[in-house]
Amino acid sequence: MTLLAIETSCDETSAAVVRDGRILSNAVSSQVGLHAEYGGVVPELAAREHLKNLLPVARTALNDAKIPVDQLDVVAATQGPGLPMALLVGLKAAQAVAFALRKPFVGIHHHEAHLYSPWIQIKDNSLAPQSGERDGVRGTETAIEYAADFSQFQPNVSLIVSGGHTILVLVESELKHRVLGSTIDDAAGECFDKTGKMMGLAYPAGPEIDRLAEQGNPRAFDFPRPMLHDAGDDFSFSGLKTSVRYFLRDNPALLDDPQKIRDLCASIQAAIVEVLVAKTIRAAKRNGVRCVTASGGVTCNRALRNELARACKKNGFTLHLAEKSLCTDNAAMIGILAERKLAQKVPATGFDEDIKPGWVLV
Ligand code: KG4
Ligand code: ZN
Repeated sequence: MTLLAIETSCDETSAAVVRDGRILSNAVSSQVGLHAEYGGVVPELAAREHLKNLLPVARTALNDAKIPVDQLDVVAATQGPGLPMALLVGLKAAQAVAFALRKPFVGIHHHEAHLYSPWIQIKDNSLAPQSGERDGVRGTETAIEYAADFSQFQPNVSLIVSGGHTILVLVESELKHRVLGSTIDDAAGECFDKTGKMMGLAYPAGPEIDRLAEQGNPRAFDFPRPMLHDAGDDFSFSGLKTSVRYFLRDNPALLDDPQKIRDLCASIQAAIVEVLVAKTIRAAKRNGVRCVTASGGVTCNRALRNELARACKKNGFTLHLAEKSLCTDNAAMIGILAERKLAQKVPATGFDEDIKPGWVLV
């Protein structure tokens, strides 16, 4: 079965071709540069950019996979949640292709798809041709063939952590998900981006904080670890953001010293990472799973990856982190989940069917 998947829920336009557990291509066009001057994603601009980029991206995905459009058996797309106008671009394009080809359409819940990206592994660096970057479209990730290896699947606690979301999910079995907790205010990525902005760093500041923190002292400044000792699985990051704001108001000269900026980055990062790791591990223990997974843009953060690895090793948990190129939004994870759903006989989605909540809130 050959499947075309499309993702346009936020600021990445992506298309992927998936066949029998193998990702034949995964093309992405990122809008990060476009939104940088506004310090965050502007929904109207995002939708217009998807309109411009979707066809070149889909063409790249089909070309990289060497699949003519009439060989597709299924079309899938992110149906929600996301920026409504941005979502509509990919959703309606995918439905139109399915309609024209008389093939089934599968609507996918964006967060649920993130749960499956940690199971996608680089299998071989030499198989796929490098399509590189053409006209702003990043082709199939540089000479990589991805495959989804569900033979290792175990019940797990999964952390989804991005600019828009911080969610802990219990994945009891394939396609059976329970949301354990989520942020009650800002997402962790937003905390990275907004505190970075206060320090004068460009949007999105997360990757730059990660880089600067490498040579900083994480114990230089003491910032709060919000809800660290709270019994539940929810998160909160707005208080940390506010405390950095007040700290900078009271210590403005600090920003004139490059080493102090590195220390500040390391200290903020340490606070965010400590909360994410501690709460993830605690949720895994409480729910009796032996496996932890993580995905979403913030999972690119090296301190988070290292600390999760250390904590999982200490507690005897298996850890699956999404490949860095698949942490951020991508159509490969949409395609993989669509394929798993069809394999488990979940019916295709009607063109006029609204997305059903795919998971249970506890
Ligand atoms: O998943 P994503 O591309 O989009 C959504 O926001 O949904 O995540 C983007 C977020 C941004 O907040 C960005 O600053 C953060 O992920 N991010 C990082 C790193 N790379 C990306 N945060 C910390 N360290 C990083 N290395
Ligand atoms: Zn996402």
